[in-house]
Amino acid sequence: MANVTFSSPRMKKDITVYAVAGDTQTLLAVARKNEIPVEFECENGECGSCLLEVTVLSDKTPHGVALTEKEKTVLRFAGKITKEQIEQAETSDIPPPWRLACQFVVRNEDILVKF
Ligand code: FES
Repeated sequence: MANVTFSSPRMKKDITVYAVAGDTQTLLAVARKNEIPVEFECENGECGSCLLEVTVLSDKTPHGVALTEKEKTVLRFAGKITKEQIEQAETSDIPPPWRLACQFVVRNEDILVKF
């Protein structure tokens, strides 16, 4: 079980929801299920409209940071990730701060999501 806290000037207050571990939902699916007003268009890692900032709150080392090729491309194009950050994510499981909600799969870590 992971706590996912959403924070945004678009919401009156922060909202924390629970995502079931092993349930491979995207962050966008979790947001939509809980009526969190995260923007999106393509839902396919192409438009970049679901860009948000994710901070891991758990002490545990994140389980394999998985960036899809589409996410890497869009984040690079938007100037939100460096080549070094991609390398760190892939070799050392160090999560980059900016992610695409439609590509980010929620795992066991508690996270803070700002948008
Ligand atoms: Fe288009 Fe996520 S909704 S990239």
